[in-house]
Amino acid sequence: MFNRKTLFPLIFVLALALAACGGNDPEPTATPAPAKPTAAVVAVVGDATAGKTVYMGTCIACHGPDAKGVTGLGKSLHAADSEFVRGKSDDELVAFILVGRTPDDPLNTTGVGMPAKGGNPAITEQQLRDVVAYVRTLK
Ligand code: HEC
Repeated sequence: MFNRKTLFPLIFVLALALAACGGNDPEPTATPAPAKPTAAVVAVVGDATAGKTVYMGTCIACHGPDAKGVTGLGKSLHAADSEFVRGKSDDELVAFILVGRTPDDPLNTTGVGMPAKGGNPAITEQQLRDVVAYVRTLK
């Protein structure tokens, strides 16, 4: 029934159909995208579970395992403790984590610096969104 002549066009059509489906991929190939912050950031929605993983890998060192802060390092990120976290939108928190806060920044409250992206240059915009979604779960 299928000889070379019929099989080949069939495979071709299948390949086309598959290629068309590929367009629905929710995470378009993870480009390490430091280049274009705002436009891309706004479109992405954060996932708190993934954000917890980011937190435990990058932020925990200074903000502590419970995100209550570590003396001499990072502060508590719980909404109840941080007016900054309470007062900022998700976009603003993402923008803050992107740049961090130097010790000589007038807004610095501890004299200790927060490195850009929590010191993890590999962190993606999606991961920043995710970690902010996780911070929002801290009451
Ligand atoms: C090397 C230590 C360090 C790491 C790692 C770090 N931070 Fe920080 N972070 C700080 C310090 C220090 C401050 C406080 C700066 C100041 O005194 O104003 C801070 C402040 C913050 C604030 C503002 C809190 C406030 O009340 O002003 C947020 C939000 C925050 N960090 C989120 C994060 C997230 C999310 C990560 C992980 C992606 C992270 N930080 C990783 C040191 C760190």
